[in-house]
Amino acid sequence: MSKSKVPSTPVLVMLYLVFVLNGLILVTAKVDDKSNVHIIYLGERQHDDPKLITDAHHDMLATVVGSKELASELMVYSYKHGFSGFAAKLTEAQAQQLAELPGVIRVVPNSLHRLQTTRSWDYLGLSSHSPSNVLHNSNMGNGVIIGVLDTGIWPESKAFSDEGLEPIPSRWKGLCQSGDQFNASTHCNRKIIGARWFVNGFLAEYGKPLNTSGDQEFFSPRDANGHGTHTSSTAAGSFVHNVSYKGLGFGNVRGGAPRARLAIYKVCWNVLGGQCASADILKAFDEAIHDRVDVLSLSIGSAIPLFSDVDERDGIATGSFHAVARGITVVCGAANEGPSAQTVQNTAPWILTVAASTMDRAFPSTITLGNNRTLVGQAVFTGKEIGFTGLVYPEAAGLDPNSAGVCQALSLNATKVAGKVVICFTSVTSRVAIRSAASIVQEAGGVGLIVVKNPTDAFSPCTENFPCVEVDYEVGTQILFYIRSTKSPLVKLSPSRTFVGKPLLAKVAFFSSRGPNSIAPAILKPDITAPGVNILAATSPLHRLAHNGYVLFSGTSMATPHVSGIVALVKALHPDWSPAAIKSALITTARRNGPSGFPIFAEGSPQKLANPFDFGGGIVNPNDAADPGLIYDMNTADYIHYLCAMEYNNTDISRLTGQPTMCPDPKPSMLDINLPSITIPSLRNSVTITRSVTNVGNSKSVYRAVIEHLFGTMISVQPNVLVFNATNQKISFRVTISTTHELIAGYYFGSLTWTDGVHYVRSPLSVRTDVLQSYYMTDHY
Ligand SMILES: *[C@@H]1O[C@H](CO)[C@@H](O)[C@H](O)[C@H]1NC(C)=O
Ligand SMILES: *[C@@H]1O[C@H](CO)[C@@H](O)[C@H](O)[C@H]1NC(C)=O
Ligand SMILES: *[C@@H]1O[C@H](CO)[C@@H](O)[C@H](O)[C@H]1NC(C)=O
Ligand SMILES: *[C@@H]1O[C@H](CO)[C@@H](O)[C@H](O)[C@H]1NC(C)=O
Ligand SMILES: *[C@@H]1O[C@H](CO)[C@@H](O)[C@H](O)[C@H]1NC(C)=O
Ligand SMILES: *[C@@H]1O[C@H](CO)[C@@H](O)[C@H](O)[C@H]1NC(C)=O
Ligand SMILES: *[C@@H]1O[C@H](CO)[C@@H](O)[C@H](O)[C@H]1NC(C)=O
Repeated sequence: MSKSKVPSTPVLVMLYLVFVLNGLILVTAKVDDKSNVHIIYLGERQHDDPKLITDAHHDMLATVVGSKELASELMVYSYKHGFSGFAAKLTEAQAQQLAELPGVIRVVPNSLHRLQTTRSWDYLGLSSHSPSNVLHNSNMGNGVIIGVLDTGIWPESKAFSDEGLEPIPSRWKGLCQSGDQFNASTHCNRKIIGARWFVNGFLAEYGKPLNTSGDQEFFSPRDANGHGTHTSSTAAGSFVHNVSYKGLGFGNVRGGAPRARLAIYKVCWNVLGGQCASADILKAFDEAIHDRVDVLSLSIGSAIPLFSDVDERDGIATGSFHAVARGITVVCGAANEGPSAQTVQNTAPWILTVAASTMDRAFPSTITLGNNRTLVGQAVFTGKEIGFTGLVYPEAAGLDPNSAGVCQALSLNATKVAGKVVICFTSVTSRVAIRSAASIVQEAGGVGLIVVKNPTDAFSPCTENFPCVEVDYEVGTQILFYIRSTKSPLVKLSPSRTFVGKPLLAKVAFFSSRGPNSIAPAILKPDITAPGVNILAATSPLHRLAHNGYVLFSGTSMATPHVSGIVALVKALHPDWSPAAIKSALITTARRNGPSGFPIFAEGSPQKLANPFDFGGGIVNPNDAADPGLIYDMNTADYIHYLCAMEYNNTDISRLTGQPTMCPDPKPSMLDINLPSITIPSLRNSVTITRSVTNVGNSKSVYRAVIEHLFGTMISVQPNVLVFNATNQKISFRVTISTTHELIAGYYFGSLTWTDGVHYVRSPLSVRTDVLQSYYMTDHY
């Protein structure tokens, strides 16, 4: 039996140091005599009566702390619906004692998670596109319940109007909780059908009172931060007409599933950009399972290195396992640590993990030089045109010779800059430094900034409302030549226009976290990609950038609720599909090409064609996902297969799943998990893997395998024709992959597609030949 007592392990110490050094916030319990919140995890619940379970939790805690009264005082949460366990304030010694009690699987300290917003992209946005077929066929997700774990909601936003909505689905068992400036009887409606908040785990970590003065935060579902209102309205906001952000991106705004309902679980608190404790997250999962939500949307990540799937410090992996076991699809962000490899988070195979892409939209601004030459930059300002005025290049103007016009080292003399536009060059992009360049210019009395940068760097200097235009090195150099050609260089800057069109291709966003999966390299992550750059949606009017209750945010946080909304549409059409079936439908139908057939790129340095580690199956394609033809289904047995292949032990697995489990010996292969993707991290000679597909299309259909080959490998599929006679019929096949070259480094990518001529069921294929192993093991000298 596993009863690990974790706080003093080296991993934890390392984590703590790493995060202190980075100034990030993953606080875990300190090792001292102070009481800290711990999560006591007991696995699958043993009774159906929640009261009995809670009583048992109090009894168990009382045996350690001495009395039932004290136990009630120290108890933070009792988890009793989705799984069994509790959170309580404990000293290290008490935690140790509890860990040794029979039935206790694990005692872990509460930990904090962060919201996944990239604030540097707070500019310019879009209106929603014309409704797609699946939107209508699914009646816009009518009646599907999306649970959102985030910073709460601003209920007065028009995005949450329930006009025209049918009554609350009768299966709903959740509640709406009044609190600070939140009145359950007026603020919940047929759109926001539930709203609660969970703060105890956070407060225990935070260690001081939360500042609730000046609308900093509310002890209620009300959203002071704005992130939760943004994600909720992106997933399921009602139609709102004629919305724009300061005139840009004008149009109608709506969520992915405008008739789905929202269940709000506020677990993230408005401190340092948004902090969420695992104890609170687990409680929200527990309640959401009880409340009968259909989809859960979490734009929350933790940090690298990741916790294992059976470690409750993560909160998300454990909570989502129980939710998925009950048919709830759990959608999570991949995190914003890109473009480096192995930065993807929320990697458990039962989670649908979402990467972020840009969209086919730009906001060009015209730069006119004194010689009447016109150039185009990407811009960000919405004010009036800046008529011809002086243009200053700091080095050329004899200002601070050390800065030499580098944006990161800008140092300006107000006498020379006042009333003028400054141009600076950046080579190593640092978001903080560039942002300060804009404020340095502003402070010196400048009226505008032109930033010359590598266009693949995603960071924008133009987050504040200051005229700021980005140009690439080619345009920047032309401007510099002009400056050097004249005594008094002049420039005119025109405000941005919204430009939407085919010539602009979607790309995987610079910040979007990338695979391979660092916990289980054979499990492809991320799974899918959705727009996550410059997303216009409702927010809390308290957010500093809010404009009439709307704002543009970027991040995998923004991509996640796009997918949650799409899952709601698919679920409305196919209420009987499992979370794995829905996930398979999304992955196998995703787009790898833009509308013109041109492939999708991934931002980074250098920019390159996107591969499955950047975007999983590709960019989500809702209409095809509603009718995928075949699905790769999975259930708890498949997740147990995964847990066994991960070599977690029988005790840990049995407790997590609630079923006595004996992993087979030898362990099952990670490669045989019935995923809609094939990833082979170390291929030696040859391997044969199995998959099975279920026919969800026409009862009689014939599918043929089409292989897009990878460099250096041979692939065969057996059988390569699948004949289905009935709907829901399942057929297995085998794929044999062998190396044809001995010295190959890195991953190569291809695909396996089953097609009946109408459906294209494509699985991404990623294979790396294990060069070193085969080299040393086969006597090549
Ligand atoms: C199972 O694994 C845990 C670590 O997750 C360990 O603490 C425990 O001792 C193991 N149990 C057995 C029976 O091996
Ligand atoms: C909540 O709203 C209802 C209906 O408007 C009202 O009767 C009640 O007094 C309100 N409660 C609070 C605490 O403001
Ligand atoms: C709490 O927030 C208010 C409003 O922003 C601020 O004026 C006040 O100083 C804060 N109090 C503390 C203790 O930080
Ligand atoms: C939206 O704006 C358009 C054009 O400005 C106008 O014709 C229309 O009446 C507006 N619609 C609403 C609902 O305000
Ligand atoms: C630029 O264009 C304006 C208007 O067409 C004209 O008056 C001006 O002389 C031109 N300047 C130069 C340097 O060509
Ligand atoms: C700024 O420039 C003016 C005019 O050239 C000069 O007199 C002044 O000393 C400069 N200030 C600084 C701080 O360099
Ligand atoms: C499907 O039908 C074909 C032709 O009638 C038959 O040969 C085949 O065995 C059937 N397959 C299954 C799995 O029932």
